[in-house]
Amino acid sequence: MRSNLHFDKEDLLAKDKAHAMHPWHEFGRGEHTLLADSEGIYVVDTEGNKYIDGIGGMWAVQIGYGNEEMAQAIADQVRRMVYYSPWSMATPPHAELSAKLATLTPGDLNRFFYSTGGSTANDSAIRFVHFYFNVMEQPEKKHIITREDAYHGSTYLAASICGKPGNDDRMELVKDFIHHIPSPNPYRRPDGMSEEEFKDAKVKDLEDKILEVGPEKVACFIAEPVLASGGVIVPPKGYQAGCLEVCRKYNVLYISDEVVTGFGRMGHFFASEPVFDIVPDIITAAKGFTSGYIPAGLTAISEKLHQDVIDKAGETATFSNGFTYSGHPVAMAAALKNIEIMERDHIMEHARDVGDYFQEKLKSLADLPMVGDVRGVGIMGCVECVSNKTTKEAFAKELELGKRLDQKCQEYGLILRPFMHLCVFSPPIIITKKQVDDMVAIMDRSIREVADDLVREGVWDGKD
Ligand SMILES: Cc1ncc(COP(=O)(O)O)c(C=O)c1O
Repeated sequence: MRSNLHFDKEDLLAKDKAHAMHPWHEFGRGEHTLLADSEGIYVVDTEGNKYIDGIGGMWAVQIGYGNEEMAQAIADQVRRMVYYSPWSMATPPHAELSAKLATLTPGDLNRFFYSTGGSTANDSAIRFVHFYFNVMEQPEKKHIITREDAYHGSTYLAASICGKPGNDDRMELVKDFIHHIPSPNPYRRPDGMSEEEFKDAKVKDLEDKILEVGPEKVACFIAEPVLASGGVIVPPKGYQAGCLEVCRKYNVLYISDEVVTGFGRMGHFFASEPVFDIVPDIITAAKGFTSGYIPAGLTAISEKLHQDVIDKAGETATFSNGFTYSGHPVAMAAALKNIEIMERDHIMEHARDVGDYFQEKLKSLADLPMVGDVRGVGIMGCVECVSNKTTKEAFAKELELGKRLDQKCQEYGLILRPFMHLCVFSPPIIITKKQVDDMVAIMDRSIREVADDLVREGVWDGKD
């Protein structure tokens, strides 16, 4: 890391506060930590404090920070050909990446549309589904089924298919063709119900909703294999495959949102088939697709759907959806380099090995005060805090427990992602076992100290 970087922290914070609006902008919010430097799995603030990045930027920086080879690939592409309209021209990295992806995707998902992130990837997927059924002369097939606790993005349409609490707080959302079914969260299943029974019940929720809306009206089901931002909710085994079977029965397309689970977090480029046993109709990806070095989104569509359009409407049929930066050559070059690094350095094998270790270590937090559930898969996990382990009652929202834990962890050199009473982890996938130990040790200490603080402040009885 560079020791010669100097910043006027006060000046920058004042500018940020006066003019910048961050995602989920809080109108009265005070300071953000100012990050100025990074290397490997670490980020450094403007005062030189170093933190383990427990969230990989935001589920994104898979190959770690400061990768010189990636920086060079991006610089080379900028110098050669920074940009040209993807409507009228193709570029070598655009073509090469598409061919490469076709060797990595499951089944016949061999057609790739590019955008600028996960929201636009999902938005484009749904626009394609609507277009598809119009072409198929089934224009009534417009309805989308999604789930509570889902997160799919922040364009108008992507936001409307989210189901995370708070997502709709005084916001307008599309409602007339979007339906939510319950979250497949095993921790919150009814007492006495087995995981298998719970799986069957959650698959049935999908079938019931399709029948309620009418199969002739339901176009698609969209699902993250693991509900990431909703709190790393890992559905019971067999859930995804059961849902796909129901979709097939009613001619409902299945969109697997792999914005988080793709590109290594589960130890595979795409987790749908090897981890969750499904070959969906469409997969979306972003974030780890370029390891966060350049914004990019991916919508992978099955060859069958593509061919159906040609068969029905001819080769002049046009999918009128695209962005100025679709297939941006620099993003394409970054994605290609990302894949090259991951393959050459055996990052998938590393992720599978460290992923198992990460899950095992995280579980060691389960008996600490306040910890109701520790869950995860691959290199992503969540610690859910509750005020009572028997009743699973959450802490009062005003306590902002996740934020308190994040602040405490930052004091000891770790950044996590707080959401209400949940602490989410998704470090860069190059993380080593020793670094996992460091991370979990900080979390362990912070949980104990925050629990003691709550008791001392008289806001918790300490009897969980
Ligand atoms: C599963 C999932 N899908 C979509 C998105 C939206 O991606 P973006 O913020 O790049 O638009 C996110 C973002 O966190 C996500 O977690």
